[in-house]
Amino acid sequence: MKDCEIATLTLDNDQLDQLHKASLDLARHGGPQAPGAALKARLWARLLEASLQPVQQATVNLFADGKLAALLFARLRAPKDDPLPERLPELAALEQDFTCLYLGSRNQVLLELVRHCAFAFDIDNDGKHLRLVGNFKGGGRLPRHDEDRRKPVELSSHAGLRLGPHTEAPYHCSVVARDGHSPAPSALVLSARWNPAGEPTRIVPLRSVIEGLGSLDVLALSSRSFDFTRSECFVDGHGAGGAATSIIDFDEQGGFSVRYNAYRFSLNEQASDAAARAFDAFQSRLAQTRPVDFVLQPDTVLLVNNTRALHGRESLCDNRRLLIRLFGYSRFARPLILKQDPLLVRG
Ligand SMILES: [Fe+2]
Repeated sequence: MKDCEIATLTLDNDQLDQLHKASLDLARHGGPQAPGAALKARLWARLLEASLQPVQQATVNLFADGKLAALLFARLRAPKDDPLPERLPELAALEQDFTCLYLGSRNQVLLELVRHCAFAFDIDNDGKHLRLVGNFKGGGRLPRHDEDRRKPVELSSHAGLRLGPHTEAPYHCSVVARDGHSPAPSALVLSARWNPAGEPTRIVPLRSVIEGLGSLDVLALSSRSFDFTRSECFVDGHGAGGAATSIIDFDEQGGFSVRYNAYRFSLNEQASDAAARAFDAFQSRLAQTRPVDFVLQPDTVLLVNNTRALHGRESLCDNRRLLIRLFGYSRFARPLILKQDPLLVRG
C-alpha cells in the first residue's frame, strides 16, 4: 500500500483463471458495448466475489463504498501473443480488435466486482463505453508518422500532450444529476495494452490535500464560485463549459467529492475574495503534493475514484502507448439515463 487512500488487491490462481474466462467470454460476446454485456459482467463478478477471502472482500467493499482514492489489481494475466507494433494502429481498427475488447471486458468485470456499472455519456467519446487512450492526434514528444507539427492539437486523451491533474468531466455535479446534467463518473478503470517506455499514470489522492486546507477555505471551495471550459473530447457541437460550479461537495459516502481540472477551471468573476483565496490555497497545496505514479501494463488494472483523486500524465514519449479505459457509476450515482443497455446517460 503506497498511501492509506490507495489499496492493492492480488488475486490467487483460481481467481485469475476465473477473471480470464470471464474476460474472454465477454470479449467474444462483443465487449462492453454489446447489449447484455453488463448483465454478463455482473454475473461473472458475483461468481468471482464468491471466491474472495475476507481480507480481499474488505478491500473490495472499501472501494465500492467510496472510501478509497484508488485500487490497484496487480499481477493479472497479460494477453498472450500480443507483440508491440512498430507504430500505433488506427483507432477504428483498435476499437474492433479482440485484445482491446478483452482488456475492456476485464475492466468491466473488475468495475462490477466493486459494484460499479460501466456507462458512456451521450456527448463524450461518441457515446462509446470503450475509450482507447493513446496518441492518435499528435502532440507527443516525438511526432507521429502522419503528424503536421504546425497544426493545433486537441487537449484530450486522444493526443500525446501532457494532461495536468484533473477529475473526469462533466463538472456540474458528482453524485446526483443536476440542472439537466448527469454526475461526473464515479470511477474510471484503466489498463494498458502497450506501454513500452513505462510511462506513468499520476494519481493525486485528495483527502490529505483537503485536510491540509483551512476549514474556511474548504467551505469557500464548496461555494459555486468556479467556471470550467468545454472538454475537447466531447462530440462536435455538444457539451459546453459551465459557470458557477463548486469544487468540493459534502458527500454522504466518502465524506467529500471533488470536481477539478488544472487546465479547465478558473475563478468565476462574481466570486468572493474568500473563494479566490481558497482557490489559490487549493492550487498551491496541489502543486506541493507529490503524485503517486502507476506504470500500467497489460497485467495491471487501476480503478480511480473520480470524486476523491485526480489523475494526469506527462506528455507521451513512446507513441505506441495504449491504455484501455471505461467509466463506472457507483450504486449511489443518480444519472439521467437515456438507454439502459448498453448504459448511456446524458452528459
Ligand atoms: Fe482523464
